[in-house]
Amino acid sequence: MQVSITVNGQQRTDEVEPRLLLAHYLREVRGLKATNIGCDTTSCGACTVIVDGLSVKSCTVLAVQADGAQVTTLEGLAGPDGEMHPVQRAFREEHGLQCGFCTPGMVMAAVGLLADNPDPSDREVREGLEGNLCRCTGYHNIVRAVRAAAQAGPAAGQVPQVQEVQA
Ligand code: FES
Ligand code: FES
Repeated sequence: MQVSITVNGQQRTDEVEPRLLLAHYLREVRGLKATNIGCDTTSCGACTVIVDGLSVKSCTVLAVQADGAQVTTLEGLAGPDGEMHPVQRAFREEHGLQCGFCTPGMVMAAVGLLADNPDPSDREVREGLEGNLCRCTGYHNIVRAVRAAAQAGPAAGQVPQVQEVQA
């Protein structure tokens, strides 16, 4: 089947198997390897991306279901001059990661959370990110990072506006 999906501002049409997961499409067809796959069964959140403004576990969505959608992955978060997104910067400054495996999904889920709730409490951050598992940090610094990112204002809950390019 043919799908036409805009990823990080680049629209492309590809031939895909009907059962191909969006997570595999992003990694194998689009070559965007920042989106990690930890479980393939909707449990860990490592594969979280933003689809049409909502954070979504990309292993729960078929590529064909994303036909026509706008998808943002971690690779698309930085600004046009490579400046880090406020959530990325906060994760770095607050040491919100150790091994980093969960981090791309955690950052994308945090952007989605901050879009819904621009100034969450600790508890709201924990509840909002409960679908994202981290084996290393104990979550404390992740919560701090998300709350620090909130101080950056509305930009923390937004994905960069990238100019659409047809390829
Ligand atoms: S790989 Fe998608 S939730 Fe774990
Ligand atoms: S930093 Fe290692 S799994 Fe989260």
